[in-house]
Formats: sequence, C-alpha cells, structure tokens
Amino acid sequence: MFLFFLFAFAKPFLLVHARLEYLSYGSSLSVERSSDIIVSPDSTFSAGFRSVGDNAYCFAVWFTKSVDFTPVWMANRDQPVNGRRSTLSMEKSGNLVLMDAGRSMVWNTDTTWASPVQLWLLNTGNLLLQTSTNITLWQSFHFPTDTLLPQQLFTREMKLIASRSQSNYSSGFYSFFFDNDNVMRLLYSGPNISSTYWPDPGLVTWDAGRSTYNSSRIAAFDLSGYFQSSDDLSFFASDFGVGPIRRLTIGYDGNLRLYSLDQKGDWGISWQAIAELCSMHGLCGPNSICVYEQSQRRCTCPPGFMLKDPTDLSQGCWPTFNLSCDPLDSKFFTISNTEFYGYDLNFTISLSLQQCMNICLESCSCKAILYRSDGPKGIGQCYPKTQLLNGFHSPSFNGTVHIRVPINGTLSDKDPLPLEISALRCDPNAHVELDRTYEQKQENNALKDLLWFVAIIGGVELICVCMGWWYMNKNNSPSVIENGYMVVGNGFKRFGYHELKKATQNFSEVIGRGGGGVVYKGVLPDERVVAVKRLEGVNQGEAEFLAEISIIGRINHMNLIQVCGFCVEGRHRILVYEYMERGTLAENLSSNALDWEKRFEIAIGTAKGLAYLHEECLEWVLHCDVKPENILLDANYNPKVADFGLSKLRDRCGINYLNVSRIRGTRGYMAPEWILNQPITSKVDVYSYGIVLLEMVTGRSSFEFHANNERDGMEESQNLVTWVRKMMCTTNGNPGRMKEIINPKIDSIYDAIKMEILIRVALQCVKEDKDARPTMTQVVEMLLRHEFDY
Ligand SMILES: *[C@@H]1O[C@H](CO)[C@@H](O)[C@H](O)[C@H]1NC(C)=O
Ligand SMILES: *[C@@H]1O[C@H](CO)[C@@H](O)[C@H](O)[C@H]1NC(C)=O
Ligand SMILES: *[C@@H]1O[C@H](CO)[C@@H](O)[C@H](O)[C@H]1NC(C)=O
Ligand SMILES: *[C@@H]1O[C@H](CO)[C@@H](O)[C@H](O)[C@H]1NC(C)=O
Ligand SMILES: *[C@@H]1O[C@H](CO)[C@@H](O)[C@H](O)[C@H]1NC(C)=O
Ligand SMILES: *[C@@H]1O[C@H](CO)[C@@H](O)[C@H](O)[C@H]1NC(C)=O
Ligand SMILES: *[C@@H]1O[C@H](CO)[C@@H](O)[C@H](O)[C@H]1NC(C)=O
Ligand SMILES: *[C@@H]1O[C@H](CO)[C@@H](O)[C@H](O)[C@H]1NC(C)=O
Ligand SMILES: *[C@@H]1O[C@H](CO)[C@@H](O)[C@H](O)[C@H]1NC(C)=O
Ligand SMILES: *[C@@H]1O[C@H](CO)[C@@H](O)[C@H](O)[C@H]1NC(C)=O
Ligand SMILES: *[C@@H]1O[C@H](CO)[C@@H](O)[C@H](O)[C@H]1NC(C)=O
Repeated sequence: MFLFFLFAFAKPFLLVHARLEYLSYGSSLSVERSSDIIVSPDSTFSAGFRSVGDNAYCFAVWFTKSVDFTPVWMANRDQPVNGRRSTLSMEKSGNLVLMDAGRSMVWNTDTTWASPVQLWLLNTGNLLLQTSTNITLWQSFHFPTDTLLPQQLFTREMKLIASRSQSNYSSGFYSFFFDNDNVMRLLYSGPNISSTYWPDPGLVTWDAGRSTYNSSRIAAFDLSGYFQSSDDLSFFASDFGVGPIRRLTIGYDGNLRLYSLDQKGDWGISWQAIAELCSMHGLCGPNSICVYEQSQRRCTCPPGFMLKDPTDLSQGCWPTFNLSCDPLDSKFFTISNTEFYGYDLNFTISLSLQQCMNICLESCSCKAILYRSDGPKGIGQCYPKTQLLNGFHSPSFNGTVHIRVPINGTLSDKDPLPLEISALRCDPNAHVELDRTYEQKQENNALKDLLWFVAIIGGVELICVCMGWWYMNKNNSPSVIENGYMVVGNGFKRFGYHELKKATQNFSEVIGRGGGGVVYKGVLPDERVVAVKRLEGVNQGEAEFLAEISIIGRINHMNLIQVCGFCVEGRHRILVYEYMERGTLAENLSSNALDWEKRFEIAIGTAKGLAYLHEECLEWVLHCDVKPENILLDANYNPKVADFGLSKLRDRCGINYLNVSRIRGTRGYMAPEWILNQPITSKVDVYSYGIVLLEMVTGRSSFEFHANNERDGMEESQNLVTWVRKMMCTTNGNPGRMKEIINPKIDSIYDAIKMEILIRVALQCVKEDKDARPTMTQVVEMLLRHEFDY
C-alpha cells in the first residue's frame, strides 16, 4: 500500500527520469508499470499509457513539459483499454500490438519484418517503428489524431479529428482536412447534420484567399511557426521565431488553433482560424442560438422556445407553439444580428422584407426567414428557412432573423434574446440591481494576469484573424519583401522615414497632439491623404515594436481607425493612419452639425469598435484612453476609434498601472479602478465610454463640472455622473423634462426615447462597481435594439 502511494506521487518525476529510449524487439510496455514510458532524447515528448477515464487507458504521445501533459497522438482514442494487464508489445513478427487486458487486440501497426525492429520516439514527437537498417515501417506522423506538430506533413489522406470534449479524447464531430476541391476546411459532421464552416461558406473560395488549383494537397508548419498549405493558406504564429514548442490542434469546440508553450508549461494561442467564436456549426442544437458573452459561449432559446434537455445543450430547443399552414394564422417576430446557417428553401435577392415574409408564408415548411438588407433601403436578400440550425448571434452579423409564430400566440413582435436593459431606480446613491444573467469572472487573479498579458501584448496570445498575414521578421520571413516594404494582404506597409518626411513635407502640418505624440497630415505618392503620428517616449527595440505593430495592423473594423503602415528606423517610431475629414469628436462635440441622429449613430459606432477590440479579440486589447479626442469622424460622421493597441508602447495600461500619478493622463474619463488599485479590465473602457456618452448628450464636459465644484474634491467625472443621475430621477422619465439634461445648444429635434436610452446606457456604463457595468457588446445590443424601435 505504502509503495503504491509512493509510486502514485512519484509519477511526474518518473515521467521525466525513468526513461526508456526505445522499445526493443520482443519486449512490451505494461499499463500497470508507470515507469514504462519512452522518452524522446531531449525529453520534449513521452509515449506510454495514459489514463483517459475510470479504468480507461490509451497509448499516447504527450508533451513532457506542458503542465497537463497534453497528448499529441493516440493509438486507440476510440477504444480505451483496461488498467490491468493491457500491454503494448513489439512482437517478433515486426508488428506493434496493443492488447486489452491480455485478451483482445484493439490496435496494431499491421507491419511485418523478418529481422529485429525497434520503436523510437524522436525529438520531433514522431513515433517510429524502424528496422536495424533504419527503414521506417510505420510512423505516428502518418496517422495524426487532433494535432499537427512542426515539420509534420499534412496530406490528402489525413484528417485531424477533434476530441469529443475537454476531458473525453474520443473522436468528436469536428474535423480538419483537404476537401475534394483541394481546399483545407473545417467540417462539422454531427449525428444528424453536416456542413463545412471554414473558410466562411458565404465566401467563394477565392475571396477567402484560397486556391483550388493546386492538387498536391500538402500543408505543414515549420519550427518558427510559419504555416503553409498548397491551397494558399499561410500564417505566422504571433510569436513567430524558432524557440517555443508549438502544436496545431483542432479543439473540441471546432476551432483550429496554433499554440505555443510558455515557460510555465501553459499553452498560449498564437493563431486561430475562427475569430467569431460562435460561428462554428453544430455548437447548439436545433432552434438554439449561440451567444458569445463575457468571454463565454452559451446556447440560448429564442422566445417561445424551451430547452429540450437543460443538461445537454446540444439537444437544442423545442417550440412551445404549433404552426398551422394557413398564412393568415402566422406572424413573425424579429431577432436582430442573428444567423441560422443553411437549410434555405431557396434564395432571392432584391426583395422587401414584406415580400420575403410572403414567400415564407406561402410554404408550409418555412419556419423563419433570414433577411439581409443591402443596397438601397428596403431591399435585401431573403432566405426562407426550413430548419433553424447552426444559430448564432453577433453584433457584427448584419442579418435579421424573423421567426414564424402563430398569430394569436403570446409572443410580441419583437421580443429578443434574454438580455434586458435594467430599470433605473431613483436613488442616485443606491446600487441599481441588474436584471441580467451576469456571470462574474471567477478569478480575479486571472484577470490580473490577463492585464499583464495585455501589457505584453506582442507576446504569445491573440488573435483576431483579421485580414492578411503578417510578416514579422524580415530576415526569417520566407516570403517576398521588396524595397523595404512589408506587404500584407490589406495594404499594411512599412514606410521609410524619408518617405514619410516627404509625404508630410518635413512634418510641417500638425493636425493633432495626443498623449502618444504629434500627428501630422501627409499625402502619400498614390495621393492618399494620411495622418502620420510620431510616437514619443517609445524606447522599444525594433523587434518588440514590430511585434506590437503587427497586432495593430491586423485589427480591422469599420469603427476602428485603419492603420495603413508604420515606420521603424533608428529612433523613429511612426504610425500612419487613414485621414479623417471631420477631425475628432471633441472638436465637433458642441457643433450644431452633429444632430441627435448623428450622435446616436456615433454612440453605436464607437461601441461597436470597442466591442470588437474587447470581445472579438478575446479581450486582449484594452483601449484605456477612450475620450472624445480619440473618436474620429469621417466625411459621413461615421465614428472611428483611434489610438488603440498602443498600451504597451506607452506604458499606459498594464506596466506601471499602479503608478497613479502617471496614468491620470486623461482626467475625467478614468474609471475608479485606476485610483483604487483594482485590476484593470475591459470595464475601464466601458466607464470612459459612458462618460463620453454623457458628454455627447448633455453638452457638458466633465471638466466644466470640475471648475464649478472644485471644493467637493470629488473626481470630476463623478460629478457629471451624479448630476445626470439626479436629473434623471427628478425628470422621472418625463420626456418633457428631459430637455433639462440634453444639450440646449443643439437645435435639432430630439427623440426623447432615444435620448433616454442613451442616458440609461451611459449611467450603467459608469457604475462604480466594474462588475455591474455591461460589456461593450451588451452596450451595442442595448443601443441597436432600440435603433429602429418606435
Ligand atoms: C467519450 O464519449 C464517447 C461518445 O459519447 C463515449 O462513448 C465514451 O464513453 C466517453 N468516454 C469517456 C471516458 O467518458
Ligand atoms: C541508423 O541511424 C542511426 C542514428 O541516426 C545511426 O547512428 C546509424 O548509423 C544508422 N544505421 C544505419 C545502418 O544506417
Ligand atoms: C437526431 O435526429 C434524431 C431523429 O430525428 C433525434 O431523435 C435526435 O434527437 C437528433 N439528435 C440531435 C443531436 O439533434
Ligand atoms: C503546390 O503547392 C506546393 C506546396 O505549397 C508547392 O510546392 C507547389 O509548387 C505548388 N504547385 C503549383 C503548381 O503551384
Ligand atoms: C400542439 O399539437 C399537439 C398535437 O397535435 C398537442 O398535443 C399540443 O397540445 C399542441 N400544443 C399547443 C401549444 O397547442
Ligand atoms: C422560393 O420558394 C417559394 C416557396 O416554395 C416560391 O414561392 C418562390 O417562387 C421561390 N423563389 C424562387 C426564386 O424560386
Ligand atoms: C453591415 O451593415 C452596415 C450598414 O448597413 C454596412 O456598412 C457594413 O458594411 C455591413 N457589414 C458587413 C460585414 O456586411
Ligand atoms: C385569432 O384571434 C382572432 C380574433 O381574436 C380570431 O378571429 C381568429 O380566429 C384567431 N385565430 C386562430 C388561429 O385562433
Ligand atoms: C526638416 O526639419 C528639420 C527639423 O525641423 C530641419 O533640421 C531640416 O533642415 C528640415 N529639412 C528640410 C529639407 O527642410
Ligand atoms: C469638426 O471639427 C473639424 C476640425 O476642427 C472642423 O474642420 C469641422 O468643421 C467640424 N465640423 C463641424 C460640423 O463643425
Ligand atoms: C511614478 O510616477 C512618478 C511621477 O511621474 C515618477 O517619478 C516615478 O518614477 C514613477 N514610478 C514608477 C515605478 O514608474
């Protein structure tokens, strides 16, 4: 007994030290001896029996250095063996055989050789069956499970198949393979439905950046983290360079990710195929919608539907109503920004919503329509649906789902997903309870770590798979770099200092002075007008700067300022942005030209931009300096958030964040966490955004309040907030009295309901308790839901 415990505890130690170098002719490994493990010469990989459940073992190869001994390959993932008397034997016939409990063979290599053969584990992670003359009879690299390793060739015969779940390694429903048209795809193949979901099925192959013409169908990635496939898919790890141990794995959630091992033995994501984490197919069952919120995915039922089995979300939802075939007995209710992929009756362009609904009503099998408006107002694409599968909801998805329901049912016309604006209670000092399913982040420490991660943003984690791939290091890059340009898909360029000097006429026309440096107007040789920002106080080396820039360059969203390029030469660190005709929101805040309609649109656009940074980049990009000066307006007054992703360049969020005197750069917009030394999360941006909203609505700046209330000694923003809270309570939702809050200088007619929404959302954003503030995605939801109401 004592010995047993000794062994149990000593196991991790044994994993490393009681190594076998190879399995020789006629010998075997036993599931009962924990020292029966083959270790690669540099001990990166180990091979042996590994527990996968109660009395269930698989023969596997795993990473010795990762904390959880992540498996790379498994011989019998779908047929685990018993914990007693199971063996892996190198038979004299040359066959490698896995026996279950000494009775039945569950797996073998099906090889024969007359002379002795040996089983080796190489430093690459490849398990080799070799003859004494070095002929390879069999190798695990030819039979991958869910993971591809550096230098392992992926071919047309292979398929990576995801695990069933985080703890169950048996074959799941997601796979990665070369399709018959030579393109690498991700496929969901469930019990009842099957469809490919990557590359985006809405795009033709060419638009997805893939080619169907190269039928060699091979792919691999090298030790520096550069992946290349014959269908033109290629990407770099965000920590590109030789060093980290990496693996490309299809996760049980259907996403394909490249991971890098850090010093502590944890895996960080250095690339992933799908940024929109709800867009994999088959995540939620029929009639169910996947929502990504609070860094978590959930399945939710549309109103009128109930969960089939609350313990198994993949079962989906069932309708609580019966539809009749009679068109007169049906109506529709609307869920915005939602998609149900596939199962279209047919597809028609250029229809009005009403025409689309009529098509659906005419068919008994039509359960809903997906409508995407495009082109001229009131015209759009119409997809009548016979089944509601692969549902997902995302603020960046433009389509609207209209579900067909009985006309006399209890459902209202628009009764969207269960995320509601809370009611405001009229006591400015009381904390307002939120009527929202809000999950607190479990570990604050983790958040703190996250913050440091954000600071070291150039590091391992990331990624929005935005456009184009980034060539990080000139010398190591295997691709073309000409004339000092780094060419990336979306035109992100490396400029020479002299080029920019010329473009800006020797940095003559100053158009702004921000925290990070002076901004100049410039005209590129192709006559594009740009804003050129010379960063000050950036003392990073070139490589570090490039790493960070690469992240900024990949971020691409209509409400985020586009970075067209950069310059790093000697001490110069320069960013080149698109030029915004209307300047900043700050300059135009009190302008009459910004009528209430535009202000509402600016509020939504800004929120979308920030939501994209927070949620879709996996909350790794905090802005940390949201203020009207950093919200730029294009010719049509569309807002674009500027100055993001520079947190490390300027030591702003993160490193030194405890040094309050340093980070109080923009007083008035800073969340209480900064002052209270609490962990900094994306909620600091939500707070600042709330203040911006209040300024837009009231026309009062937080500084103005400071001047009037100096003696209070309170934070200025607090006073603007307190004032609005008080006013809201006294007006008590009376639209007539809302006038007292809103900016009197703007003489356009205002929509009292929209104004009230803006103010209520703003007040939620500036809650003192960061956990009570909504996320930016929720803010977008709240504003969008009311955009077309009333
Ligand atoms: C893993 O999932 C498969 C399929 O659902 C199931 O048959 C098997 O028992 C599971 N294995 C474990 C160890 O839970
Ligand atoms: C087989 O490979 C090993 C290691 O690379 C080498 O030392 C040995 O000489 C090779 N044997 C033959 C017969 O080529
Ligand atoms: C698959 O279809 C069968 C028969 O229609 C049904 O019973 C089962 O619940 C479905 N499974 C899932 C996961 O939808
Ligand atoms: C096909 O792809 C392979 C691997 O990327 C490459 O070596 C080969 O040159 C390509 N063939 C053609 C005709 O482009
Ligand atoms: C729907 O129809 C089924 C069978 O016809 C019936 O049992 C059920 O009560 C009906 N449900 C409703 C909500 O009318
Ligand atoms: C689509 O299907 C509906 C119902 O079957 C039909 O009325 C309509 O004409 C079809 N549209 C096209 C373009 O085929
Ligand atoms: C979404 O709609 C807006 C406005 O209708 C449009 O400008 C934008 O390009 C659309 N986005 C996508 C991804 O289609
Ligand atoms: C719906 O209600 C209207 C008025 O109450 C009634 O005339 C009609 O028959 C009802 N339809 C159904 C399908 O019950
Ligand atoms: C550009 O400006 C710098 C500093 O302001 C000055 O030293 C230099 O002579 C100028 N060059 C030209 C060509 O004007
Ligand atoms: C907004 O600000 C810019 C920059 O100051 C200015 O050129 C523009 O005229 C302003 N727009 C309006 C409508 O006042
Ligand atoms: C904190 O800020 C003060 C004043 O700006 C500065 O002197 C000090 O060096 C800073 N401390 C750290 C740790 O950066």
